[in-house]
Amino acid sequence: MCKRGAKKGINEILQKYPAASEYLIFLLQDIQEAYGYISGENMEIVCEHINVPISRAYSVATFYKSFRLEPKGEHEIKVCLGTACHLKGGGRLAEELQRRIGVEPGCTSKDMRYTLETVNCVGACALSPVMIVDEKYHPNTNAKKIGKVLSEIDKEEIGGGGNSESCI
Ligand code: FES
Repeated sequence: MCKRGAKKGINEILQKYPAASEYLIFLLQDIQEAYGYISGENMEIVCEHINVPISRAYSVATFYKSFRLEPKGEHEIKVCLGTACHLKGGGRLAEELQRRIGVEPGCTSKDMRYTLETVNCVGACALSPVMIVDEKYHPNTNAKKIGKVLSEIDKEEIGGGGNSESCI
C-alpha cells in the first residue's frame, strides 16, 4: 500500500471519532482492522489527533494482546497452548515450528513469510493439539503434519528466502 493511500485511510478513521483521549482504543482498533497492525507513524498521528502522549498509546497497545505493532507475515501460524493442547504436546509443536521456520512465537520472519503466535484455548479441545494456519484449523497436529502443511505452503509459492526473524 502506498503512503498516500495509507494517509487517506487514517484520515477517514480519525474522522469517525471526536478528537478526545477516550477514543484511543477505538482508533487503535480501527487502524488495526484497516492495516492489520498499528505502525509507529499511525500511532503518532492518532496521538497528535487526540492529544495523548505516545507512551500512553504504546502502553495501551502493548497491554492488549490483540494489538499488533508490526505487520503480519503472509502466513499466520498459531499454536494453541491452552491446557488440553499443552497436555498433548502443544509446547513441542511450537518448538518444532520455531525450529522449522526459524521464528520465535510472537515474531515475523524478515522475509514477511511467516508469523508465529501461541494462543490460549481456541475452543477445539477435543481436537487437541491444535494448530491454525491462515485461519484453517489443523486438529491432532504432530511434527509430521507440520511438515506436510509447510510443504503445501511451499508448493503454493515460488522461492522462499531467509528465515531470520524480526521482532520488536
Ligand atoms: S486447549 Fe487448545 S483448543 Fe482448547
